[in-house]
Parts: sequence; structure tokens; C-alpha cells
Amino acid sequence: MLKDSIQTLMAQVKEIQANNAEELEALRIKYLSKKGEITALFNEFREVPNDQKRELGQLLNQLRQETEGRLAELREQLGERLEASGERLDLTRTPDPIALGTRHPLSLVREEIEDIFSRIGFTIAQGPEVEDDKHVYGMLNFAPEHPARDMQDTFFIEKEIGVQKPTDVLLRSHTSSVQTRVMTSQKPPIRVLCPGRVYRNEAISARAHCFFHQVEGLYIDKNVSFADLREALLYFSKEMFGPETKIRLRPSYFPFTEPSAEMDISCNICGGTGCSFCKGTGWVEILGCGMVDPNVLEACGIDSKVYSGYAFGMGVERITNLKYRVKDLRLFSENDVRFLKQFESC
Ligand code: PHE
Repeated sequence: MLKDSIQTLMAQVKEIQANNAEELEALRIKYLSKKGEITALFNEFREVPNDQKRELGQLLNQLRQETEGRLAELREQLGERLEASGERLDLTRTPDPIALGTRHPLSLVREEIEDIFSRIGFTIAQGPEVEDDKHVYGMLNFAPEHPARDMQDTFFIEKEIGVQKPTDVLLRSHTSSVQTRVMTSQKPPIRVLCPGRVYRNEAISARAHCFFHQVEGLYIDKNVSFADLREALLYFSKEMFGPETKIRLRPSYFPFTEPSAEMDISCNICGGTGCSFCKGTGWVEILGCGMVDPNVLEACGIDSKVYSGYAFGMGVERITNLKYRVKDLRLFSENDVRFLKQFESC
């Protein structure tokens, strides 16, 4: 009997439950789809004698409304549950932003150095990290047995693996090698900045590493003087560390420059009054520099009677250390995201 079937389904529908969207959909299909149980009753209804149509029609409509209502109720409950557990699928929501990597502090500082010098006409030059003795030392006025090769703690590369014999292939220990390459391939005026990674055979500690990064500069033209060098370095220091920064040049020695100097800046941590960082002196050393030795110009095919030039070189880690107070060099190459993330807004 149709009436019994309606009543049975009515009782059933009141009890239905759904744990997830699939179960809910299965219920809809079971009762209301084209082949659903309630639809089947509507089909049966067509055969009902006229005098019963009114009553059964009402009951059937009630059953359908009841079912639709119950399904809507379940859908709502399900939504609330998912929302509470944070699982709600909202297709209109803006997707989570993709986590972007951050700039490495050494890249930030290197780019800043490049930017500062590019404003006074320097362009970037690059060269190989695996070099030969000639470009790293020979053309830079290092005598064949010059102890500086040891002083720089060079990594030599064996040409034949396992066969130890004297070799002139090495990992560059400074980017001055790029300068020799530029000087032999370009004619003055030359104004280049040579950023890059360099290698030295040093025990790894908080203050030393077997590789680090340098930016060296070279300017060659007619009448280039030490005063030009000093002016360029003062400009750089003020741009990098602030307009209050002072510089001081101390006589030093490099085989490829004469005269040579080391440059200190007034300690940017205490402002020059003396602190533990500058060991109470108020000054911190940041680079080496000097006038390019005429022997170097000649070795590179540049007439030292016509041209003169200056060169300087600094460690990017050292500058980063001063700028961002990173005390341990090893942090730069450990790829610890907690360290790197701190430079997100820089
Ligand atoms: N090449 C030197 C170094 O690696 C730095 C330097 C460059 C000094 C140019 C003077 C002039 O220590």
C-alpha cells in the first residue's frame, strides 16, 4: 500500500544521519534522485484511484518536504562541524600565499655594494673560480716562490687525481684574478667591480671559513691618484654605514699595490667611542687597497707611464657582519631558515 510505504519512509527519513559530504549525497540519491525511493512513490501515485489522490498527494508532498528539510539540516550541521575543525572547503577563498624564499644576507650586502659603486661608474666583471697561478699571483707581482701563496692559504688542484705533483691550477684566493683578466682584455679607462666567491685553506671557525665572498674594485685611467681612491672609499663608507662614518687609511703591504693601505671605518656600533666590537679602539678594519703597482700594469700590457690606477678589495661577510651584527661566519652557509628569515624585510 502506498500509504504504508509513505509512512515507513517518513519515519526513516527523520532518523537519517550523515558523517560527511559523501554520505549526505548518497542519502539524496537514495531518496530524491530520479531513481530514488520517494520518486518511485510519486510514480506509483499516478496509479492511485482518484478518490485517494488528495490525501496521498498531501502525504507524499509532506514526505518530500520533510526529506529535503532533513537533508538541508544535515548539510548545515556538517558545514559547522567542518568549519570548527578548520576543514571547510571554501572554493571562493583566496589561496594561502606561497611561502617565498628570502634574499640571503650576503646577496643583499653584495648587491648594495654593487649598487653604491655603480652610481660612480663601476660595472661588474666576473671570472672563473678555478683559476691558474698566472692570473691569481703571477701577473699580480707575486714572485714565483713568494710566500704569499702560502699566506693566502691556497687550495691547489691536482691535475691528475691521486698524483701529487706541482700544479698551477688552483681555487682563486681573491677576486684580483678577475682584475688581471679585465686588464689583459680591455683597454683603459677601466672601472670594474669584481664580486665573487674565493677560497682559502683555513680551519672553519666563527671568524674564518674555507670560502668567503669578496668584492674588489679596479679603476685605471690617466692621472688616477691616491686622493681619488680615498674619495671613492669615503663615499662608499658613508653610503654603506651612514653619513657620520669616518675612514682612516693605515700603511700596509700587498704585492700588487704600491703604496698599499688598509682602511678602517669608525666603529658603526659605538660610533667611534670604543666598545667590545672594536676592542675599544673606535675603528674597525674593512678593506685593503692601494695604487696598482706599475709592474702589474705592465704585466697586463698597460703602459704604466701613461696610466695609473687604484684597486681595493673587501670581504662581503665582514661588511655583513658590521651591518647586521652577525657574529658567527658559519651562519652564512648553514642554510638555517630561522637565521635567513630574519632578513625578510631587508
Ligand atoms: N686581494 C686582496 C685580498 O684578497 C685585497 C686587495 C685588493 C688589496 C686590491 C689591495 C687592493 O686580501
